[in-house]
Amino acid sequence: MSLKPLSRQTLGVCYYPEHWPEDRWPQDARMMAEAGIDFVRIGEFAWSQLEPEPGEFDWSWLDRAFEVLASENLKIVLGTPTATPPKWLVDRMPDMLPIGPDGKVRGFGSRRHYCFSHEGYRAECARITKALAERYGDHPALAAWQTDNEYGCHRTTLSYTPAALSAFRDWLAQQYQSIDALNRSWGNVFWSMEYRNFDEIELPMGAVAQLNPSHLIDFRRFASQEVVAFNRLQTEIIRRHSPGRPISHNFMGKFFEFDHYAVSADLEIAAWDAYPLGFLDREIGDLDLMQRYMGVGHPDFDAFHHDLYRTCGQMRHGLEDGRWWVMEQQPPGPLNWGAFNPEPKPGAGRLWVWEAFAAGAEVVSFFRWRQPSFAQEQMHEGLLLPDGTPNQGYELCKEITAELETLQPAPVNTRSDVAIIFDYDSQWMSEIMPVAADASHFDSVLRSYAALRRAGISVDIVPPTAEAIAGRKLIVMPMLVHCPEAFTQALSESDAVILAGPWTGAKSSNFTIPEGLPPGTLRNLIDITLRRVETRRPFAPFALEDGNTFAGWREDIAAGEDVSVLERLETGEPAVLRQGNMIYLAGRGDDAMQDKQIRRALDLAKVPWIDLPEDVRVRKNGPLTFVFNYGQGTCDISSLMGNQSLKMGTLNLVPCGVTCFGPAS
Ligand code: GAL
Repeated sequence: MSLKPLSRQTLGVCYYPEHWPEDRWPQDARMMAEAGIDFVRIGEFAWSQLEPEPGEFDWSWLDRAFEVLASENLKIVLGTPTATPPKWLVDRMPDMLPIGPDGKVRGFGSRRHYCFSHEGYRAECARITKALAERYGDHPALAAWQTDNEYGCHRTTLSYTPAALSAFRDWLAQQYQSIDALNRSWGNVFWSMEYRNFDEIELPMGAVAQLNPSHLIDFRRFASQEVVAFNRLQTEIIRRHSPGRPISHNFMGKFFEFDHYAVSADLEIAAWDAYPLGFLDREIGDLDLMQRYMGVGHPDFDAFHHDLYRTCGQMRHGLEDGRWWVMEQQPPGPLNWGAFNPEPKPGAGRLWVWEAFAAGAEVVSFFRWRQPSFAQEQMHEGLLLPDGTPNQGYELCKEITAELETLQPAPVNTRSDVAIIFDYDSQWMSEIMPVAADASHFDSVLRSYAALRRAGISVDIVPPTAEAIAGRKLIVMPMLVHCPEAFTQALSESDAVILAGPWTGAKSSNFTIPEGLPPGTLRNLIDITLRRVETRRPFAPFALEDGNTFAGWREDIAAGEDVSVLERLETGEPAVLRQGNMIYLAGRGDDAMQDKQIRRALDLAKVPWIDLPEDVRVRKNGPLTFVFNYGQGTCDISSLMGNQSLKMGTLNLVPCGVTCFGPAS
């Protein structure tokens, strides 16, 4: 076993042997192998089966499951079962249950019923992790670990328990050292919020009116660090007892409750769970887009996460040895958790898998092997029907396996010329005090990211650090609400073109308006001052001179003499400003405006771009170029081929089609 990236990309599946009779397991394993599946994730919810009575382990069934899977040369990803503490444990330690922001205990009966800060529960997690790692840590079929399952899912990161309260007070005391320093930093003179000591501070919940944003941002930072610590407890134990085996965690889509870069620093493999149609239904929030992309998913949403988690996968071992997977991929069938769960269009499942491989995923692992006939997820499709016979997903695995035999993309370990900054702290700030009701850091980043994709650019999504921007030609920071000083410094030393969006540099780290007004220290790069933010309902966009608009909000900017105004509002105020290599947008542009700004910045940075047909997207993968059609009509893509040759697919790209160009051989 090795911590290094795999030499070839392949398929996986999530499997729950404990849900099915043992005499079926050999057939399952054989069918998996026959479909070309290499990796099987097991165990992540099986605590009650592994330890039916406190301290009494039953390894026998898992031993046999390992044996059966190994007999077909399947490689096992073993999950620690800490997302599902068993009933006996909860009854022994009822105060481990999480408490919601409404002050109510969130009880047993589903999953994730624990508080990250509870020391007793942490000790139990350490105990079961150690027992598992001692038992299976050097099993020849064990290929990787997964810690827990989807940290924070079902809104469980922010915990309002006595355990969280006491840990938060300690954390604050460490950060501020004196209560006066905290009072000053938070501005507690406002509304008589001053504290006399750290023990007077409560968790930010249940107040009559808005809570203090400084209190809230510190709570978010604290809660994020609790997740990091919780995960690290497990990774340290696993490394001790299972050396050489990579450790992963499966992150989620549009989920920002903790800093994923920080958790990833303790992982070899950053993985995520991709459910394109669930996200379209639940996360996009725009009926027109939901209708337009029904059955295929948003063309940039999942891609965004591939690019984000690829960076996460490099946090521990760097670019060369970075690794990322899709740990759970929606099968080509309906889910159970959207408000509505349409069937994927023919070909959509295949498109999803190739989009991930093209972005460098080592493994795309389907959720789940067999649709259950019982309990919560019986309406969630699997690769097999509940009766154990193949469903469409099983056939899809065979199809992709055959394609992988002739076409192997590479795990991407090169840097893109273009980086876009995504920052958890800025996301939290934008949630705590949104500029407008529909604005967030993520929303702004996704809009710019989509504009880059529409120009055919493969993008890296990175944190605001000097290391992450080194060697880039274009750095896009659509809404870096708080720009850390070290990052301002790195930007000022960079030769890259910098395209900053509105609300960048709007807050200091303790959530106040920066001295000298926004954008704070970024004024060293562009001599502008934010004097006012105006927000409006969607029916009243701000017209620009060129016919485009600012949608939702715009800023009133005063500019120094070295700043040139590139574009103006119809009313004459500056809309786009530039000084040297830095361009600043003083409002949230509509799609046409985004395209124009991104393309101008690409030109300035001398990064070639293309004007893609609508709903077509491309991705560079080493010498290969993949082309995807998320639209509803067939599209002639011959103009995109240049002097390359066709490696897969056709030049007439049907809806959900995938084509690959490569060097002429
Ligand atoms: C994920 C989760 C899985 C399963 C799946 C259903 O969020 O990790 O256990 O519930 O969703 O789509």
